[in-house]
Amino acid sequence: MKVTAPRQPSKRKRPSPRAEERATDLERRRELGQFFTPQPVAEFMWDVLETLHGGAFPSHASLIDPACGDGVFLRVARERGRLDPAGLFGTDIDPALEPGWHADPVLRSAQLHQVNGLLDAPGFGIQERSFDVVAGNPPFSGKGLRELLRLLEEDREANRDEERDLFGLPVPGQSRGHTGQPLSRSERADLDKLARRLCEYACWRMNAAPDDDTATAAPPDNDTPDLLAGLALNDRPRPTVSDCERSAHLIRQWPAGRLLDVSRPEIREVIGRLASTAVEVFFTERFLRLAKPGGLIAVIVPESIAASERLSPLRRWLTGRMDLLMVVGLPQRVFTGVGANARTTILFARRRLQERPEGWWLQPQETLPDAGRSVRLTAPQIEAPNWSLQAYLDGVLQSVRAKQASARPTAK
Ligand SMILES: C[S@@+](CC[C@H](N)C(=O)[O-])C[C@H]1O[C@@H](n2cnc3c(N)ncnc32)[C@H](O)[C@@H]1O
Repeated sequence: MKVTAPRQPSKRKRPSPRAEERATDLERRRELGQFFTPQPVAEFMWDVLETLHGGAFPSHASLIDPACGDGVFLRVARERGRLDPAGLFGTDIDPALEPGWHADPVLRSAQLHQVNGLLDAPGFGIQERSFDVVAGNPPFSGKGLRELLRLLEEDREANRDEERDLFGLPVPGQSRGHTGQPLSRSERADLDKLARRLCEYACWRMNAAPDDDTATAAPPDNDTPDLLAGLALNDRPRPTVSDCERSAHLIRQWPAGRLLDVSRPEIREVIGRLASTAVEVFFTERFLRLAKPGGLIAVIVPESIAASERLSPLRRWLTGRMDLLMVVGLPQRVFTGVGANARTTILFARRRLQERPEGWWLQPQETLPDAGRSVRLTAPQIEAPNWSLQAYLDGVLQSVRAKQASARPTAK
Protein backbone atom coordinates (compact mmCIF):
# COMPACT_ATOMS: atom_id res chain seq x y z
CA MET A 1 0.00 0.00 0.00
CA LYS A 2 1.33 3.32 -0.96
CA VAL A 3 1.54 5.72 1.89
CA THR A 4 1.39 9.35 1.00
CA ALA A 5 3.19 11.75 3.25
CA PRO A 6 0.94 14.20 5.02
CA ARG A 7 0.65 17.39 3.01
CA GLN A 8 2.84 20.16 4.24
CA PRO A 9 1.04 23.44 4.72
CA SER A 10 1.94 25.74 1.85
CA LYS A 11 4.80 28.12 2.64
CA ARG A 12 3.00 30.88 0.78
CA LYS A 13 0.90 32.77 3.25
CA ARG A 14 -2.66 33.24 2.09
CA PRO A 15 -3.77 36.83 2.40
CA SER A 16 -5.95 37.36 5.43
CA PRO A 17 -9.59 38.22 4.73
CA ARG A 18 -8.81 41.79 5.83
CA ALA A 19 -5.88 42.04 3.38
CA GLU A 20 -8.11 40.64 0.63
CA GLU A 21 -10.76 43.21 1.48
CA ARG A 22 -8.18 45.97 1.36
CA ALA A 23 -6.90 44.79 -2.05
CA THR A 24 -10.45 44.65 -3.43
CA ASP A 25 -11.13 48.09 -2.04
CA LEU A 26 -7.96 49.45 -3.64
CA GLU A 27 -8.94 47.90 -6.97
CA ARG A 28 -12.40 49.44 -6.71
CA ARG A 29 -10.94 52.85 -5.90
CA ARG A 30 -8.50 52.60 -8.82
CA GLU A 31 -11.37 51.82 -11.17
CA LEU A 32 -13.15 54.93 -9.91
CA GLY A 33 -9.99 57.07 -10.17
CA GLN A 34 -10.39 57.74 -6.46
CA PHE A 35 -7.37 59.62 -5.15
CA PHE A 36 -8.20 62.33 -2.66
CA THR A 37 -6.65 65.78 -2.67
CA PRO A 38 -4.38 66.53 0.27
CA GLN A 39 -5.85 69.23 2.54
CA PRO A 40 -3.02 71.79 1.97
CA VAL A 41 -3.63 71.67 -1.80
CA ALA A 42 -7.40 72.16 -1.34
CA GLU A 43 -6.72 75.06 1.05
CA PHE A 44 -4.33 76.64 -1.43
CA MET A 45 -6.95 76.38 -4.18
CA TRP A 46 -9.52 78.02 -1.95
CA ASP A 47 -7.16 80.88 -1.04
CA VAL A 48 -6.34 81.50 -4.70
CA LEU A 49 -10.06 81.47 -5.58
CA GLU A 50 -10.73 84.12 -2.94
CA THR A 51 -7.84 86.20 -4.19
CA LEU A 52 -9.04 85.97 -7.79
CA HIS A 53 -12.52 86.90 -6.58
CA GLY A 54 -11.05 89.98 -4.90
CA GLY A 55 -11.83 88.98 -1.29
CA ALA A 56 -14.00 86.58 0.70
CA PHE A 57 -17.05 85.19 -1.08
CA PRO A 58 -20.41 86.12 0.41
CA SER A 59 -21.67 83.38 2.72
CA HIS A 60 -24.56 82.60 0.35
CA ALA A 61 -22.20 81.84 -2.57
CA SER A 62 -22.70 78.38 -4.06
CA LEU A 63 -19.96 75.83 -4.66
CA ILE A 64 -19.97 72.38 -6.22
CA ASP A 65 -17.43 69.59 -6.49
CA PRO A 66 -19.07 67.17 -8.96
CA ALA A 67 -16.74 64.28 -8.03
CA CYS A 68 -16.31 65.18 -4.38
CA GLY A 69 -14.85 62.02 -2.82
CA ASP A 70 -14.59 62.56 0.93
CA GLY A 71 -15.58 66.21 0.50
CA VAL A 72 -12.31 68.05 1.15
CA PHE A 73 -13.25 71.02 -1.05
CA LEU A 74 -16.62 71.44 0.64
CA ARG A 75 -15.04 71.26 4.08
CA VAL A 76 -12.44 73.87 3.15
CA ALA A 77 -15.12 76.19 1.69
CA ARG A 78 -17.06 75.90 4.94
CA GLU A 79 -14.18 76.16 7.38
CA ARG A 80 -11.96 78.66 5.57
CA GLY A 81 -14.54 80.52 3.50
CA ARG A 82 -17.46 80.36 5.96
CA LEU A 83 -19.86 79.49 3.14
CA ASP A 84 -23.34 78.49 4.19
CA PRO A 85 -23.73 74.66 4.00
CA ALA A 86 -27.00 75.15 2.09
CA GLY A 87 -24.89 76.35 -0.86
CA LEU A 88 -22.27 73.58 -0.71
CA PHE A 89 -22.94 70.79 -3.22
CA GLY A 90 -21.07 67.59 -3.84
CA THR A 91 -21.74 64.48 -5.90
CA ASP A 92 -19.86 61.22 -6.13
CA ILE A 93 -20.70 57.96 -7.82
CA ASP A 94 -19.28 55.80 -5.03
CA PRO A 95 -21.89 54.68 -2.46
CA ALA A 96 -19.13 53.63 -0.03
CA LEU A 97 -18.47 57.32 0.71
CA GLU A 98 -21.91 58.09 2.10
CA PRO A 99 -21.35 56.92 5.70
CA GLY A 100 -18.30 59.22 5.91
CA TRP A 101 -20.35 62.18 4.67
CA HIS A 102 -23.02 61.53 7.29
CA ALA A 103 -20.46 61.17 10.07
CA ASP A 104 -18.73 64.47 9.25
CA PRO A 105 -20.21 67.37 11.23
CA VAL A 106 -19.42 69.86 8.44
CA LEU A 107 -20.62 67.74 5.53
CA ARG A 108 -23.76 66.50 7.28
CA SER A 109 -25.55 69.75 6.58
CA ALA A 110 -24.16 70.21 3.06
CA GLN A 111 -25.87 68.96 -0.13
CA LEU A 112 -24.12 65.67 -0.89
CA HIS A 113 -25.58 63.10 -3.25
CA GLN A 114 -24.49 59.75 -4.57
CA VAL A 115 -25.11 60.31 -8.28
CA ASN A 116 -23.14 60.54 -11.49
CA GLY A 117 -21.46 63.94 -11.44
CA LEU A 118 -21.58 64.25 -15.23
CA LEU A 119 -25.36 64.45 -15.21
CA ASP A 120 -27.65 67.20 -13.99
CA ALA A 121 -29.86 66.33 -11.03
CA PRO A 122 -32.44 69.16 -11.01
CA GLY A 123 -34.30 67.59 -8.07
CA PHE A 124 -31.17 68.21 -5.97
CA GLY A 125 -30.57 71.69 -7.41
CA ILE A 126 -27.68 70.48 -9.57
CA GLN A 127 -27.86 72.08 -12.98
CA GLU A 128 -25.55 73.64 -15.49
CA ARG A 129 -24.78 77.37 -15.22
CA SER A 130 -25.81 77.42 -11.53
CA PHE A 131 -22.69 77.69 -9.38
CA ASP A 132 -20.52 80.61 -8.30
CA VAL A 133 -17.57 78.28 -7.78
CA VAL A 134 -16.80 74.84 -9.21
CA ALA A 135 -13.78 73.31 -7.51
CA GLY A 136 -12.36 69.84 -7.31
CA ASN A 137 -10.23 67.06 -8.59
CA PRO A 138 -12.24 64.85 -10.93
CA PRO A 139 -11.39 61.20 -11.63
CA PHE A 140 -8.77 60.34 -14.15
CA SER A 141 -7.66 56.95 -15.39
CA GLY A 142 -9.74 54.10 -13.98
CA LYS A 143 -12.50 52.48 -15.95
CA GLY A 144 -13.92 55.82 -17.07
CA LEU A 145 -16.99 55.44 -19.24
CA ARG A 146 -16.26 51.99 -20.60
CA GLU A 147 -19.43 50.74 -18.94
CA LEU A 148 -21.26 52.21 -21.95
CA LEU A 149 -19.78 49.49 -24.13
CA ARG A 150 -22.12 47.06 -22.48
CA LEU A 151 -24.86 48.60 -24.60
CA LEU A 152 -22.99 47.43 -27.68
CA GLU A 153 -22.31 43.98 -26.28
CA GLU A 154 -25.97 43.49 -25.65
CA ASP A 155 -26.79 43.97 -29.28
CA ARG A 156 -23.85 41.80 -30.29
CA GLU A 157 -25.30 38.98 -28.23
CA ALA A 158 -28.61 39.44 -30.03
CA ASN A 159 -27.03 39.80 -33.45
CA ARG A 160 -23.56 38.35 -33.66
CA ASP A 161 -23.07 39.54 -37.27
CA GLU A 162 -23.32 43.22 -36.34
CA GLU A 163 -19.70 44.14 -35.72
CA ARG A 164 -19.30 47.07 -38.13
CA ASP A 165 -19.91 50.78 -37.84
CA LEU A 166 -21.31 53.19 -40.37
CA PHE A 167 -17.99 53.21 -42.20
CA GLY A 168 -18.04 49.43 -42.44
CA LEU A 169 -15.25 49.18 -39.87
CA PRO A 170 -15.20 47.59 -36.42
CA VAL A 171 -16.51 49.86 -33.67
CA PRO A 172 -13.51 51.00 -31.59
CA GLY A 173 -12.82 49.30 -28.29
CA GLN A 174 -15.97 47.28 -28.59
CA SER A 175 -14.69 44.34 -26.66
CA ARG A 176 -13.40 46.35 -23.67
CA GLY A 177 -15.73 46.49 -20.70
CA HIS A 178 -17.25 43.11 -21.45
CA THR A 179 -18.64 41.61 -18.30
CA GLY A 180 -20.40 38.60 -19.74
CA GLN A 181 -23.49 39.59 -17.75
CA PRO A 182 -26.58 40.61 -19.68
CA LEU A 183 -27.89 44.02 -18.68
CA SER A 184 -30.90 44.17 -16.41
CA ARG A 185 -33.75 46.43 -17.53
CA SER A 186 -32.79 49.16 -15.11
CA GLU A 187 -29.06 48.97 -16.03
CA ARG A 188 -30.03 49.20 -19.70
CA ALA A 189 -32.23 52.24 -18.99
CA ASP A 190 -29.47 53.92 -16.92
CA LEU A 191 -26.86 53.42 -19.61
CA ASP A 192 -29.30 54.68 -22.22
CA LYS A 193 -29.82 57.86 -20.21
CA LEU A 194 -26.08 58.28 -19.70
CA ALA A 195 -25.37 57.91 -23.44
CA ARG A 196 -28.04 60.46 -24.32
CA ARG A 197 -26.81 63.01 -21.80
CA LEU A 198 -23.13 62.61 -22.68
CA CYS A 199 -24.04 63.04 -26.30
CA GLU A 200 -24.85 66.68 -25.47
CA TYR A 201 -21.22 67.31 -24.48
CA ALA A 202 -18.87 68.78 -27.05
CA CYS A 203 -15.60 67.11 -26.02
CA TRP A 204 -16.15 63.68 -27.59
CA ARG A 205 -16.63 65.26 -31.02
CA MET A 206 -13.46 67.36 -30.86
CA ASN A 207 -11.25 65.06 -32.82
CA ALA A 208 -13.55 64.57 -35.77
CA ALA A 209 -12.01 65.32 -39.14
CA PRO A 210 -12.97 68.59 -40.83
CA ASP A 211 -15.67 67.98 -43.41
CA ASP A 212 -13.40 68.51 -46.39
CA ASP A 213 -10.57 66.48 -44.91
CA THR A 214 -10.19 62.98 -46.27
CA ALA A 215 -6.88 62.44 -44.53
CA THR A 216 -6.55 59.72 -41.95
CA ALA A 217 -6.04 60.39 -38.27
CA ALA A 218 -2.60 61.37 -37.03
CA PRO A 219 -0.80 58.78 -34.91
CA PRO A 220 -1.38 59.31 -31.19
CA ASP A 221 1.01 61.37 -29.06
CA ASN A 222 3.22 59.36 -26.79
CA ASP A 223 2.28 61.53 -23.84
CA THR A 224 -1.41 60.76 -23.90
CA PRO A 225 -1.94 57.11 -24.58
CA ASP A 226 -5.50 57.09 -23.27
CA LEU A 227 -6.97 60.52 -23.83
CA LEU A 228 -9.35 60.52 -26.75
CA ALA A 229 -7.83 57.18 -27.60
CA GLY A 230 -10.93 56.02 -29.40
CA LEU A 231 -11.00 59.19 -31.43
CA ALA A 232 -7.70 58.79 -33.20
CA LEU A 233 -8.82 55.66 -34.88
CA ASN A 234 -5.57 54.20 -36.14
CA ASP A 235 -5.59 54.19 -39.90
CA ARG A 236 -9.29 54.21 -40.54
CA PRO A 237 -10.92 57.39 -41.81
CA ARG A 238 -12.14 59.59 -39.02
CA PRO A 239 -15.82 60.48 -39.00
CA THR A 240 -16.21 64.08 -40.06
CA VAL A 241 -17.71 66.87 -37.99
CA SER A 242 -20.95 66.46 -39.94
CA ASP A 243 -21.05 62.70 -39.31
CA CYS A 244 -20.75 63.36 -35.59
CA GLU A 245 -23.32 66.15 -35.67
CA ARG A 246 -25.79 63.97 -37.57
CA SER A 247 -25.36 61.05 -35.21
CA ALA A 248 -25.58 63.28 -32.12
CA HIS A 249 -28.72 64.87 -33.56
CA LEU A 250 -30.26 61.46 -34.17
CA ILE A 251 -29.69 60.55 -30.51
CA ARG A 252 -30.95 63.91 -29.24
CA GLN A 253 -34.15 63.50 -31.26
CA TRP A 254 -34.67 59.87 -30.24
CA PRO A 255 -38.09 59.50 -28.55
CA ALA A 256 -37.75 59.74 -24.77
CA GLY A 257 -39.93 56.70 -24.18
CA ARG A 258 -37.93 54.37 -26.45
CA LEU A 259 -34.53 52.87 -25.76
CA LEU A 260 -31.84 53.78 -28.27
CA ASP A 261 -31.63 51.27 -31.10
CA VAL A 262 -28.10 50.02 -30.54
CA SER A 263 -28.16 47.98 -33.72
CA ARG A 264 -27.96 51.21 -35.77
CA PRO A 265 -24.39 51.81 -36.95
CA GLU A 266 -24.42 55.57 -36.30
CA ILE A 267 -25.64 55.03 -32.72
CA ARG A 268 -22.98 52.38 -32.18
CA GLU A 269 -20.32 54.75 -33.48
CA VAL A 270 -21.37 57.46 -31.04
CA ILE A 271 -21.47 55.08 -28.09
CA GLY A 272 -18.02 53.77 -29.01
CA ARG A 273 -16.65 57.32 -29.13
CA LEU A 274 -18.29 58.36 -25.86
CA ALA A 275 -16.95 55.28 -24.10
CA SER A 276 -13.41 55.80 -25.32
CA THR A 277 -13.17 59.50 -24.49
CA ALA A 278 -11.24 59.88 -21.24
CA VAL A 279 -13.39 60.59 -18.20
CA GLU A 280 -11.23 63.60 -17.23
CA VAL A 281 -11.99 65.17 -20.60
CA PHE A 282 -15.72 64.93 -19.89
CA PHE A 283 -15.23 66.26 -16.37
CA THR A 284 -13.17 69.23 -17.54
CA GLU A 285 -16.11 70.21 -19.74
CA ARG A 286 -18.49 69.49 -16.85
CA PHE A 287 -16.69 71.93 -14.54
CA LEU A 288 -17.20 74.67 -17.10
CA ARG A 289 -20.84 73.73 -17.70
CA LEU A 290 -21.67 73.85 -14.00
CA ALA A 291 -20.27 77.37 -13.50
CA LYS A 292 -22.49 80.42 -13.83
CA PRO A 293 -21.32 82.88 -16.46
CA GLY A 294 -18.78 84.91 -14.47
CA GLY A 295 -18.30 82.00 -12.01
CA LEU A 296 -14.86 80.72 -11.01
CA ILE A 297 -13.42 77.27 -11.73
CA ALA A 298 -10.51 75.53 -10.01
CA VAL A 299 -9.79 72.05 -11.24
CA ILE A 300 -6.93 69.60 -10.85
CA VAL A 301 -6.32 67.83 -14.16
CA PRO A 302 -3.68 65.52 -15.56
CA GLU A 303 -0.96 67.61 -17.21
CA SER A 304 -2.02 66.40 -20.66
CA ILE A 305 -5.25 68.44 -20.48
CA ALA A 306 -3.12 71.58 -20.33
CA ALA A 307 -0.30 70.53 -22.60
CA SER A 308 -1.01 67.62 -24.94
CA GLU A 309 -0.97 68.41 -28.65
CA ARG A 310 -3.89 66.10 -29.28
CA LEU A 311 -6.09 67.93 -26.80
CA SER A 312 -5.56 71.35 -28.36
CA PRO A 313 -9.07 71.32 -29.96
CA LEU A 314 -10.50 70.81 -26.46
CA ARG A 315 -8.43 73.70 -25.07
CA ARG A 316 -9.46 75.94 -27.93
CA TRP A 317 -13.10 75.11 -27.25
CA LEU A 318 -12.69 75.69 -23.50
CA THR A 319 -10.88 78.98 -23.86
CA GLY A 320 -13.70 80.24 -26.04
CA ARG A 321 -15.95 79.77 -23.03
CA MET A 322 -13.71 80.55 -20.10
CA ASP A 323 -10.81 82.90 -19.41
CA LEU A 324 -7.84 80.96 -18.20
CA LEU A 325 -6.36 82.82 -15.22
CA MET A 326 -3.67 80.57 -13.82
CA VAL A 327 -2.02 77.21 -14.43
CA VAL A 328 -0.20 75.80 -11.42
CA GLY A 329 1.93 72.71 -11.99
CA LEU A 330 2.01 70.19 -9.15
CA PRO A 331 4.83 67.75 -8.54
CA GLN A 332 4.09 64.11 -9.23
CA ARG A 333 4.60 63.23 -5.59
CA VAL A 334 1.45 65.11 -4.48
CA PHE A 335 -0.68 62.13 -5.33
CA THR A 336 1.84 59.33 -4.97
CA GLY A 337 1.17 59.33 -1.23
CA VAL A 338 -2.46 58.49 -1.92
CA GLY A 339 -1.72 55.81 -4.51
CA ALA A 340 -1.74 57.69 -7.84
CA ASN A 341 1.21 58.50 -9.98
CA ALA A 342 0.15 61.25 -12.34
CA ARG A 343 1.63 64.63 -13.08
CA THR A 344 -1.12 67.11 -12.48
CA THR A 345 -1.89 70.76 -12.96
CA ILE A 346 -4.39 73.10 -11.36
CA LEU A 347 -6.35 75.24 -13.78
CA PHE A 348 -8.00 78.42 -12.50
CA ALA A 349 -10.48 80.03 -14.85
CA ARG A 350 -13.53 82.23 -15.03
CA ARG A 351 -16.51 81.32 -17.20
CA ARG A 352 -16.98 84.02 -19.80
CA LEU A 353 -20.12 86.14 -19.88
CA GLN A 354 -19.96 86.04 -23.65
CA GLU A 355 -18.60 83.03 -25.45
CA ARG A 356 -16.19 83.27 -28.31
CA PRO A 357 -17.75 80.74 -30.67
CA GLU A 358 -14.48 80.02 -32.41
CA GLY A 359 -12.58 79.62 -29.19
CA TRP A 360 -9.26 81.29 -28.60
CA TRP A 361 -8.21 80.57 -32.11
CA LEU A 362 -6.74 83.22 -34.27
CA GLN A 363 -4.53 83.51 -37.28
CA PRO A 364 -0.97 84.50 -36.30
CA GLN A 365 -1.35 88.00 -37.79
CA GLU A 366 -4.45 88.76 -35.70
CA THR A 367 -4.32 90.31 -32.25
CA LEU A 368 -5.47 88.19 -29.36
CA PRO A 369 -8.78 89.47 -28.01
CA ASP A 370 -7.30 89.64 -24.53
CA ALA A 371 -3.82 90.71 -25.52
CA GLY A 372 -3.39 92.70 -22.30
CA ARG A 373 -4.42 89.84 -20.03
CA SER A 374 -1.75 87.54 -18.75
CA VAL A 375 -2.11 83.95 -17.66
CA ARG A 376 0.10 83.04 -14.75
CA LEU A 377 2.02 79.77 -15.16
CA THR A 378 4.01 78.14 -12.41
CA ALA A 379 6.02 74.95 -12.28
CA PRO A 380 7.49 73.28 -9.19
CA GLN A 381 11.26 73.10 -9.07
CA ILE A 382 11.51 70.07 -6.89
CA GLU A 383 15.26 69.73 -7.41
CA ALA A 384 15.89 73.05 -5.65
CA PRO A 385 17.45 72.66 -2.19
CA ASN A 386 14.91 72.51 0.63
CA TRP A 387 12.01 72.49 -1.83
CA SER A 388 8.69 71.79 -0.12
CA LEU A 389 5.15 71.65 -1.44
CA GLN A 390 3.88 74.00 1.25
CA ALA A 391 6.56 76.61 0.56
CA TYR A 392 5.88 76.35 -3.19
CA LEU A 393 2.11 76.83 -2.75
CA ASP A 394 2.67 79.68 -0.26
CA GLY A 395 4.99 81.39 -2.74
CA VAL A 396 2.46 81.10 -5.58
CA LEU A 397 -0.31 82.43 -3.36
CA GLN A 398 1.77 85.39 -2.21
CA SER A 399 2.62 86.37 -5.75
CA VAL A 400 -1.05 86.12 -6.84
CA ARG A 401 -2.06 88.30 -3.91
CA ALA A 402 0.65 90.84 -4.74
CA LYS A 403 -0.44 90.94 -8.37
CA GLN A 404 -4.09 91.40 -7.47
CA ALA A 405 -3.20 94.15 -5.00
CA SER A 406 -1.14 96.02 -7.58
CA ALA A 407 -3.94 95.70 -10.17
CA ARG A 408 -6.51 97.22 -7.78
CA PRO A 409 -7.14 100.92 -8.45
CA THR A 410 -5.75 103.00 -5.58
CA ALA A 411 -8.17 105.31 -3.75
CA LYS A 412 -7.52 108.97 -4.45
C1 LIG B 1 -9.59 61.99 -7.84
S1 LIG B 1 -10.94 61.63 -6.76
C2 LIG B 1 -11.12 63.20 -6.02
C3 LIG B 1 -12.11 63.34 -4.95
C4 LIG B 1 -12.22 64.75 -4.37
N1 LIG B 1 -12.69 65.68 -5.37
C5 LIG B 1 -10.88 65.22 -3.87
O1 LIG B 1 -10.31 66.10 -4.50
O2 LIG B 1 -10.38 64.68 -2.88
C6 LIG B 1 -12.25 61.49 -7.91
C7 LIG B 1 -13.60 61.06 -7.36
O3 LIG B 1 -14.50 60.93 -8.45
C8 LIG B 1 -15.42 59.90 -8.16
N2 LIG B 1 -16.06 59.54 -9.44
C9 LIG B 1 -15.62 58.72 -10.43
N3 LIG B 1 -16.49 58.73 -11.45
C10 LIG B 1 -17.49 59.58 -11.10
C11 LIG B 1 -18.67 60.02 -11.73
N4 LIG B 1 -19.02 59.62 -12.96
N5 LIG B 1 -19.47 60.88 -11.07
C12 LIG B 1 -19.15 61.33 -9.83
N6 LIG B 1 -18.05 60.93 -9.19
C13 LIG B 1 -17.22 60.09 -9.82
C14 LIG B 1 -14.60 58.85 -7.48
O4 LIG B 1 -15.37 57.99 -6.69
C15 LIG B 1 -13.65 59.73 -6.64
O5 LIG B 1 -14.16 59.90 -5.35
